[in-house]
Amino acid sequence: MSDSPLLEMTGIVKRFPGTLACDGANLSVRAGEVHCLLGENGAGKSTLMKILAGSYRPDGGEIRLAGRPLHATSPQDGIAAGISVIYQELDLAPDLTVAQNLFLGRAPARGPFVRRRARAEAAADVIERVGGTFSPADRVGDLPIAAQQLTAIARALTMDAKVIVMDEPSATLGERDLEAVFEVIRGLAAEGRAIIYISHRLDEVSRIGDRATVMRDGRDAGVFEVADTGHDELVAAMIGESRDLVRREDRAVPSGEPRLVIERARVGDILDVSGIDVRPGEIVGLAGLGGAGRTTLLNALFGVVRADVRARLDGDRLPVAGPRTAVRNGLALVPESRKEQGLFLGLGVSRNAAVSALGPLAPRSRGRRMTEPVLAGLGVKHTSADQPVGELSGGNQQKVVLAKWIVRGMRVLLLDEPTRGLDIGAKADLYQQVRRLADDGVAVLLASSELAELTAHADTVWVLHEGRNIARFDPRTAPEADIAHTVITGATP
Ligand SMILES: Nc1ncnc2c1ncn2[C@@H]1O[C@H](COP(=O)(O)OP(=O)(O)OP(=O)(O)O)[C@@H](O)[C@H]1O
Ligand SMILES: [Mg+2]
Repeated sequence: MSDSPLLEMTGIVKRFPGTLACDGANLSVRAGEVHCLLGENGAGKSTLMKILAGSYRPDGGEIRLAGRPLHATSPQDGIAAGISVIYQELDLAPDLTVAQNLFLGRAPARGPFVRRRARAEAAADVIERVGGTFSPADRVGDLPIAAQQLTAIARALTMDAKVIVMDEPSATLGERDLEAVFEVIRGLAAEGRAIIYISHRLDEVSRIGDRATVMRDGRDAGVFEVADTGHDELVAAMIGESRDLVRREDRAVPSGEPRLVIERARVGDILDVSGIDVRPGEIVGLAGLGGAGRTTLLNALFGVVRADVRARLDGDRLPVAGPRTAVRNGLALVPESRKEQGLFLGLGVSRNAAVSALGPLAPRSRGRRMTEPVLAGLGVKHTSADQPVGELSGGNQQKVVLAKWIVRGMRVLLLDEPTRGLDIGAKADLYQQVRRLADDGVAVLLASSELAELTAHADTVWVLHEGRNIARFDPRTAPEADIAHTVITGATP
């Protein structure tokens, strides 16, 4: 790794109406390093990367690449200069093949004709370099998310990118896929490329990062050698103080009749769960590895996957016939993927938060009155009630989804990885809200890959393994290591 920077961004300023997204931000990245970019939701990370890519024009500051000034005024300019940004919402065309996506608009051609054979060969070559096992002819929309992620990385290689930015790739990847992507990232860095990696998960930063720049309020708040820096120090730089974030409040296990009884839920041969109860006021955690069936179970209950479900809600049979029926019965689902969260990006924050409760035609003032306290409680960072949701940072968009359900009210709340993409403070706020809902009598099913979050916030933890619920733990008494062991091995204690 060389010491002189490959990329230098100095004094970057970007104003949006009412927001100073970047306020003199500096970032210096060397060839051959994986440089993590950290910071709370809304700190300006994505904005800084969009400026680098040429998607946004900065209001001030300077960018140098390999010592030369870079003035990208469009993403095409950025690509031509060797910058490739992989956004969390992968901008691949799902209906096209992998090969078509890799060379979109740049296919090897003879006159007006694409040389398909040449394209397929070149595609197969880069797919192999990123360790993909899919074919150039596969339709991107049919591939699992990890393969899509690899396709996006492969595309960066076809462009011969010198700087590759990955904006929260782990928000969509499971643990096994993440390790595969890490392997690829290490290989790319070893070739002398610079990787900028955005994540809220400090364990990932320790695993993949060489250095980290922390952003706070649109500015760089410190540059750290990852190997020499404790998580506490990074957190302190992010939020400006140390804060004890996962604390278990000891409270009585809610008693009384269960609100939701899952007698049996089956989906093909991938899910067969039985005997899970959730009481009003209870948070039941679902632990498990990627693919263990947590998402499938929540989707089955909500009626968004074809499933055979026998369940009771407050003693009555729960009809499962699609999301509308689910909502009518008082179920709410906050899904894992942001794309499916049903936000209207062009509409205001308050409208989005109110739409589920009041419908699209309700008077604005009424929507505002209902949504304001909820948005404030979740700490949604926005400039006005009418600010389009599409202008919010990724993490803040996620909070609006929960706000929407809180405003509407529910009997059962199904949460699928609710803290992905949220910063540390926002996670604490989210769990506080969820606890408040539970205290108001909501029954909560919470799927999470973060065992520490489950043991801190759930009243009961079920472990799912290969589609079955195999063990039930009381997080007050069960050591976290025992739960982790069951999650990984599938062996019950
Ligand atoms: N197109 C836009 N119009 C108006 N404001 C914007 C726009 N894009 C971003 N912002 C604002 O700029 C600030 C920084 O947002 P940015 O998306 O860069 O944050 P981030 O650090 O990537 O956060 P997260 O971790 O939640 O993804 C936020 O307050 C956001 O609302
Ligand atoms: Mg972002």
